[in-house]
Amino acid sequence: MSERLEDIAARMVAAGKGILAADESSGTIKKRFDSIGVESTADTRRDYREMLFRSDAMKDYVSGVILYDETIRQNAKDGTPLVKLIADAGAVPGIKVDTGAKPLAGFPGETITEGLDGLRERLAEYYQLGARFAKWRAVIAVSDVLPTTTAVRQNAQALARYAALCQEAGIVPIVEPEVLMDGQPGDHSIDRCYEVTEFVLKTVFNELYEARVRLEGMVLKPNMVIDGKNARKASREEVAEKTVRCLKATVPAAVAGIAFLSGGQSDEEATAHLSLMNELHKPVWPLTFSYGRALQAAALKAWGGKAENVAAGQAAFAHRARMNGLAALGQWKPELEKAAA
Ligand code: 13P
Repeated sequence: MSERLEDIAARMVAAGKGILAADESSGTIKKRFDSIGVESTADTRRDYREMLFRSDAMKDYVSGVILYDETIRQNAKDGTPLVKLIADAGAVPGIKVDTGAKPLAGFPGETITEGLDGLRERLAEYYQLGARFAKWRAVIAVSDVLPTTTAVRQNAQALARYAALCQEAGIVPIVEPEVLMDGQPGDHSIDRCYEVTEFVLKTVFNELYEARVRLEGMVLKPNMVIDGKNARKASREEVAEKTVRCLKATVPAAVAGIAFLSGGQSDEEATAHLSLMNELHKPVWPLTFSYGRALQAAALKAWGGKAENVAAGQAAFAHRARMNGLAALGQWKPELEKAAA
């Protein structure tokens, strides 16, 4: 019998663990590899991800891994499917199913995330390949005048249609409406971020209700409430307090859990913010991480595309995963970073 959505979702937000977002599209992973001077080929992408999935940190701190279409079909160098490496480490394999944010016609500066056509059939195939959760990311730009209600509503409707199709397929949807911190102009205040995030989450949960999505069988992946990257002023405590306040005002208690994106925060900021939320504000849902950049940046650098650096890359990944695992329990302290350096 297939596993219940509620049980999969509970495994994804298990105490002291979080999600590794390794679902960079071919374009995005090329940018990451360019930054370390490594050519992006099917084999280098496989080698890099195999390094992460074989790390010891997986079984202790990683509850799930989000994959890209190419990766869910790839085998490790010795022929073992990468999905099997993940499942053997006790983590849930997941898959990014949107096909990207495209310009929204008639709304300059805003996007609509695509990927609904044929999604039922793709989900059935991904289930066969081992995926038990999926991800869809809507992108919301912020300025004095953006977002428009049209862009927010249309993205929320797409998220809701995606989530309903996932649940029909026995797959837990990660619902990700990202209010950008590092978009243009990126100079908005934390209070502007609060206001936009509140409106976006209210709209998303209304659409999820209209689409009959079961909240107990989904995970929310939101941004933190934080000022734009070109106007960073808010303290770590303020980010933690305003983020939890905004979530309490908008997210029903029935939601299985919340796993944040890092969105361009530094590694340590992303960890510190999560830890403070859990330590000081004790929210009703499990609050954990679903980080891409903030979990991988150090490992990518330490690896540098060289086979002899695999152990160093795994050590860097293990350190970040452990720091974030502690943050998910509200137990991270800045001294722990120095101890490892
Ligand atoms: P970042 O943590 O790098 O923002 O990526 C998370 C993610 O999966 C965005 O969709």
